[in-house]
Amino acid sequence: MRISVVGCGYLGAVHAASLVELGHEVVGVDVDERKVQALSRGRSPFYEPGFQDLLEHSLASGSLSFSTDINAAAGARVHFVCVGTPQKHGEYGADLRFVQTAAESLLEVLEPGELVAGKSTVPVGTAARLAAMFQEKVPGSLLAWNPEFLREGFAVRDTLHPDRLVYGLPAGRDAGAAQALLDEVYAPIVARGVPKVETDYATAEMVKTAANSFLATKISFINAMAELCEATGADVKQLADAIGYDDRIGRKFLNAGLGFGGGCLPKDIRAFMARAGELGADQALTFLREVDNINMRRRIRMVELAREVCDGSLLGKRVAVLGAAFKPDSDDIRDSPALNVAAQLQLQGAVVRVTDPAAVENSRRQWPQLDYADTAEEAAERADAVLVLTEWREYRELDPVAFGTVVAQKRVLDGRNALDREAWLAAGWSYRALGRRAG
Ligand code: UDX
Repeated sequence: MRISVVGCGYLGAVHAASLVELGHEVVGVDVDERKVQALSRGRSPFYEPGFQDLLEHSLASGSLSFSTDINAAAGARVHFVCVGTPQKHGEYGADLRFVQTAAESLLEVLEPGELVAGKSTVPVGTAARLAAMFQEKVPGSLLAWNPEFLREGFAVRDTLHPDRLVYGLPAGRDAGAAQALLDEVYAPIVARGVPKVETDYATAEMVKTAANSFLATKISFINAMAELCEATGADVKQLADAIGYDDRIGRKFLNAGLGFGGGCLPKDIRAFMARAGELGADQALTFLREVDNINMRRRIRMVELAREVCDGSLLGKRVAVLGAAFKPDSDDIRDSPALNVAAQLQLQGAVVRVTDPAAVENSRRQWPQLDYADTAEEAAERADAVLVLTEWREYRELDPVAFGTVVAQKRVLDGRNALDREAWLAAGWSYRALGRRAG
């Protein structure tokens, strides 16, 4: 099937290349000339494991192309909308500018019988509004909402092997046509028997924000427990293990530490609260404000802990920050807890050196006043404290004995509860982590 994908960021670019893998002919459209050029030349504009290979493979097949011109999308039977919906400046709601622009640009090429399939995370009600616009301007065209649940770092795997498909379908006769087109797009996945939820627009839109709100709540729950553990001397990691054995609770997303960041969870819970307010149902989501508060408090606590470890003052102290991306295996620094802490430390007088296997370039652009290093060893040279703030494998696997020879003071703060505490203690380090006793 000929398919277009409008918006070629983390979501759209991976989606476009994956669709080729599923047997389709795909054109990716983006307004960013540099991104389109890089993708066309087979160079991934971002770090995502497996994507570079997938991109090269898909381009080599001749079935993938990229363009800045929406006319390249003409003739596609399905048009995916994969643009971003960031938080609005100065308020909680989602900025739908890019969705609106993408939808309007599609009006130039859309023909009756073709399907626009929204993938962007949008406030509930958006699909119905867009459907009305498409119906008015291109009668006979179709709209579906088909949320995407991919995690950065696992984007390729999650796209090719999703755990569920959600179709938000139009009411009435059009539902069958839209569903048939989506089934054709995902044919190999559907054939594997992957669970499929066929529903209305509002439910499909809410599935995404509800899922992300649940995940955020789970993380903040364990981080709230971490605060209590700090007050009582209990150990949050063992607590998480013990409650996680109950399969009604489950151990996943119960890792206490610096909390959640990134381009999705923080802005999605805020946009959800804002939308609930517009709908007169704000009380239903006031708990998300607390989820957000708990999360942001972790960053402040991490800075306090660093100060504590540095004998009560950060002034002039050399602090190494390992990790800048919002999570490992990504170069994404949007609302990164690690960078937030690094910047706070610097603003409070510490001499901060940040390193990250993939995100240094992006970080330097956003925080040019921070000092950056290529390796953990370089960042930690003569450091008074080392903070591990993103749990990249290479940091989890650092040899505390060898690493101890480069620092001035063997003090480590494990911001993600990811290090082997006993090994670091045995190598003579003082070990601190959120929600665990000092060692
Ligand atoms: C999230 C959702 O998981 C995904 O389904 C959705 O499509 C997009 O948003 P992503 O933003 O890539 O994906 O990251 P995720 O793996 O969910 O992690 C989000 C943040 O939570 C990271 O900062 C991570 O470090 C943090 N986290 C995760 C914790 O602090 N503790 C955990 O136990 C898990």
